[in-house]
Amino acid sequence: MKLFVFPRWANKTRQLAGIALGVTPLYLIGLIWYGASPKTTDVGYMPKQPVPYSHALHAGQLGIDCRYCHNTVEKAAVAAIPPTATCMNCHSKVHTKSELLTPVRDSYATGKPVEWVKVHDLPDYAYFNHSAHVVRGVGCVTCHGRVDQMEEVHQFAPLSMSWCLDCHRNPDLNLRPPEEVTNMTWTPPGDPAEYGKSLREKNHIAPPTDCSTCHR
Ligand code: HEC
Ligand code: HEC
Ligand code: HEC
Ligand code: HEC
Ligand code: HEC
Repeated sequence: MKLFVFPRWANKTRQLAGIALGVTPLYLIGLIWYGASPKTTDVGYMPKQPVPYSHALHAGQLGIDCRYCHNTVEKAAVAAIPPTATCMNCHSKVHTKSELLTPVRDSYATGKPVEWVKVHDLPDYAYFNHSAHVVRGVGCVTCHGRVDQMEEVHQFAPLSMSWCLDCHRNPDLNLRPPEEVTNMTWTPPGDPAEYGKSLREKNHIAPPTDCSTCHR
């Protein structure tokens, strides 16, 4: 039984397709290599940073709110990495002789930023926006894990397209009141599914799933 019947004019196309198929392995190797490279989907990716800055100490033990440093998350697409001046608010008085902080003091003196290495990095053809999530009540912990317990930040979620879409199609279990977004230990009162559904309905949350939302 023939499943596909090509019209005669398609013969040329089939020849071309044959040529294209011939090069497919190369393309596939490229895609697999790209897909598996740490920059795209590697959960656990943890590059070495120029200063041993600890979230477990600052966000955990000292209890500094995420927004003190990442102060654009509620207003902008990108979550700002704090400038050296933010560190110096405290470190001009605390641990002023610490060797670990030499690059920070040098940066402050020269005006050259500390060269933090990016942990999360979506490919350029995918568009993400922090404020769209944070003001609607998706918590940092949902996408980044227990950052307040990390000595060094690593990638927690796969950041794949299906990961994005799974939540966009059914966000209920990932919603919380917007004022709790930086709370790492918040839990829903009562039944999580019921509570999430009530938040979604009350705040009219409807994450889009059309391609142009994330590919523009
Ligand atoms: C005192 C400042 C400060 C506070 C408070 C802080 N951070 Fe950070 N954060 C940084 C700095 C500096 C970096 C860059 C170095 C690194 O990756 O560790 C960073 C990096 C990150 C990254 C990785 C960014 C990338 O490159 O992909 C995430 C995610 C993050 N922080 C989340 C949080 C969350 C969530 C909180 C609150 C629980 C928080 N941060 C609190 C200073 C801070
Ligand atoms: C709100 C105040 C505050 C801010 C802002 C702050 N820190 Fe700290 N940091 C502290 C305190 C307090 C300690 C010491 C904790 C202790 O020793 O128990 C510390 C310790 C450290 C240490 C360890 C120093 C050592 O010798 O043990 C490093 C490294 C460090 N901070 C880096 C940074 C960086 C980088 C930034 C900016 C992204 C930053 N800190 C912002 C308060 C702050
Ligand atoms: C819905 C998931 C999600 C939530 C919620 C979320 N993030 Fe992110 N975050 C991401 C993704 C995806 C990236 C990578 C973005 C890119 O490469 O374009 C990222 C990157 C970052 C970065 C690196 C700078 C940047 O914007 O690329 C920081 C810092 C960060 N997040 C902090 C936070 C903090 C703090 C919160 C809570 C206030 C938070 N994030 C909430 C998914 C999320
Ligand atoms: C844990 C749940 C969750 C995850 C994971 C998630 N999102 Fe969302 N996203 C939402 C919610 C909730 C909204 C807000 C919908 C609303 O305002 O009605 C949203 C909104 C958005 C918007 C704004 C849409 C608009 O036009 O208002 C973009 C863009 C977006 N998400 C992209 C992404 C991308 C890209 C990823 C993956 C890297 C991702 N999201 C992962 C829950 C999520
Ligand atoms: C909620 C956000 C979101 C929506 C909606 C979305 N994408 Fe994506 N897409 C992504 C992200 C994020 C990536 C990058 C994944 C990675 O780095 O592994 C991606 C990657 C891709 C890729 C590259 C190959 C792959 O699978 O990784 C293609 C092709 C693609 N998307 C097509 C589409 C089409 C077609 C639609 C509409 C039917 C669509 N996307 C809707 C977020 C989205």
